[in-house]
Amino acid sequence: MSKLTVLVAGASGYLGRYVVKEFTERGYGVRALVRSKDRLAGVGPNFEPDVAEVVEEVFIGDATDKASLKGACKGVDIVFSCMGLTKPQNDVTSELIDHLGNLALLEDAIACGVRRFIYISVFNSDKMMDSDLVAAHEHFVRDLRSSGMPYTVIRPGAYFNDMGMFFNFARKGHVFLFGDGSNRFNPIHGADLAKVCVDAAEDEGNKEVAAGGPDIFTYDETNLMAFEALGLEPKITHMPIWVGDMALFVIGLFNKPFASIMSFAIAVSRMDNIAPLTGTRRLRDFYRDLAAQGK
Ligand SMILES: NC(=O)c1ccc[n+]([C@@H]2O[C@H](COP(=O)([O-])OP(=O)(O)OC[C@H]3O[C@@H](n4cnc5c(N)ncnc54)[C@H](OP(=O)(O)O)[C@@H]3O)[C@@H](O)[C@H]2O)c1
Repeated sequence: MSKLTVLVAGASGYLGRYVVKEFTERGYGVRALVRSKDRLAGVGPNFEPDVAEVVEEVFIGDATDKASLKGACKGVDIVFSCMGLTKPQNDVTSELIDHLGNLALLEDAIACGVRRFIYISVFNSDKMMDSDLVAAHEHFVRDLRSSGMPYTVIRPGAYFNDMGMFFNFARKGHVFLFGDGSNRFNPIHGADLAKVCVDAAEDEGNKEVAAGGPDIFTYDETNLMAFEALGLEPKITHMPIWVGDMALFVIGLFNKPFASIMSFAIAVSRMDNIAPLTGTRRLRDFYRDLAAQGK
């Protein structure tokens, strides 16, 4: 069988880089869809790999500009997309990228005769539809389901790069958490999640796959672990969720992009988020490596 080609949208991000690496190691040819080729180079802040020399081709496109995505899928067998808004961008909402950007890509995939579309949404989305970010993901999932394109939707819990963000707060000496810190979750390493994503290339029919990491923690436990790795006295302040809701309302009046992203952070703080346990990489080791990096 000749080598299959996969388009990875979001190839420059935390998960995207691990997925590029995993597809390549399994013998696929990878075309990266990115806004800038430079964003593929250099090891990332959470150890995500440099993939600049790993990809076979680069396609430059922007999710906010439908015309720029035309032809991205030409000659491609499979599309994998983790293209999403995770950091504020000027005047850009989750709806514009997570929903409409991915929809433009799906339309191109259909026009180009792609065989399968693999999409990253979020775990427990049905309980978080009041978050703009989650709603935008699910608007795309609804369109994907009705498109006739064979698909896999992956539903992950938190990634280690999010935990890297909390680690950086601990490094500064003080962590602020919404809620009482007792909710439980199981964060997953990008390399472990990439295996789940690439396995989906061999799926048949339509599938939805939830995936979390191998260990379950409370929010407090992960932060105590970060302080321990840094050798610092723990300092954690718990803020009631209603404070987050009020802040979200006010921020939403003048900064919708930031509010979109914050709405997700607040939504996940409200409940346990334990996705099916998978993977082998441990948060304690990740924190040890981050602590060593900063010395
Ligand atoms: N992190 C989590 O805990 C978590 C949990 C569940 C689901 N998810 C979802 O998983 C996906 C990937 O997450 P991640 O943490 O890997 O995010 P990430 O590191 O921020 O990567 C996002 C990717 O999307 C690309 N992108 C953003 N805006 C774009 C635009 N206008 N046009 C083209 N590409 C654009 C980014 O490109 P640039 O490099 O140019 O910015 C980057 O390659 C997201 O959809 C996120 O909602 C994340």
